[in-house]
Amino acid sequence: MNPVIAIDGPSASGKSTVARRVAAQLGFVYVDTGAMYRAVTWRLLHEGIDPAKTAAVAAFSERMDFHAIIKGGTTRLECNGPIDPDALRSPDVSSAVALVARVPETRARLVAEQRSLRALAPLVMEGRDIGSVVFPNTPYKFYLDARPEVREARRHLQGEEDAINRRDNIDRSRAVAPLRVADDARVIDSSSLSIDEVVAAVCSALDTAGLQCRPTDSHAS
Ligand code: DC
Repeated sequence: MNPVIAIDGPSASGKSTVARRVAAQLGFVYVDTGAMYRAVTWRLLHEGIDPAKTAAVAAFSERMDFHAIIKGGTTRLECNGPIDPDALRSPDVSSAVALVARVPETRARLVAEQRSLRALAPLVMEGRDIGSVVFPNTPYKFYLDARPEVREARRHLQGEEDAINRRDNIDRSRAVAPLRVADDARVIDSSSLSIDEVVAAVCSALDTAGLQCRPTDSHAS
C-alpha cells in the first residue's frame, strides 16, 4: 500500500506551499484536493448552475465525468472536459466553492477519486478532511494553522481578496466532513514560522517515522 501524507488546515495556513515542497523532497505525487472542489465549482458556474442550489449541485455531482490524472508529479483535472488550473483561483470560484464543498454528493464523488489515487503512487495530499475522513488510517497526519490575521495578510499578499473567514466558517460548520483536527494529527502553528521552518518540521517528523525527505535544489512551486 502506497504511503499517504495528509496535510490539512484552513485557507492560507501555508499548506499548499508546504505540501508541494514536502512532495518534491519525498518524490511523492502532490495532490491538491481544494483544486478538485474548485474544478467542480468552475464547471457548475460555466454550465449556469447556481452553486447555492444544493439539489442542483448534488444532481450535477452524481452525473459529472470527473478525473484526476497523475502527470509530472501532480494531478491534471477533468470535470466534463479539461479544466484550466489558472481559472480555479478566480474570485467567482473562490466565493462559491465552500457552498459546493458542503454538498454530500459532491464530497462522496471527490473522496472516492482521492482514495483511488493511492493505488497509483505515494501521495502528499492537502485539504480539509484528508486525515479525518479520506485516509483516517494513515500514520502521517499534519494540521497546519495560523492566526486569522496572519492568514488574511498572506491572502492579500497573494493578490486574493476573498473573505477567507466566511469560507472557513462554512467549512467548519458544515454537516459532512467539517474542517477539524484529526485526533492523531501533528498540529503546526505557522504564524511566526517561515515556510522553510514548517517544511523542516514536517520533514523531521517524517524522517523519525521512517520516510526520507531529500532536500531539492529548487523551491519552485
Ligand atoms: O484549499 P482551497 O482554498 O483551494 O479549498 C477550496 C474549498 O474547498 C474550501 O472552501 C474548502 C474546500 N475543501 C474541502 O472542503 N475539503 C477538502 N479536502 C479540500 C477543500
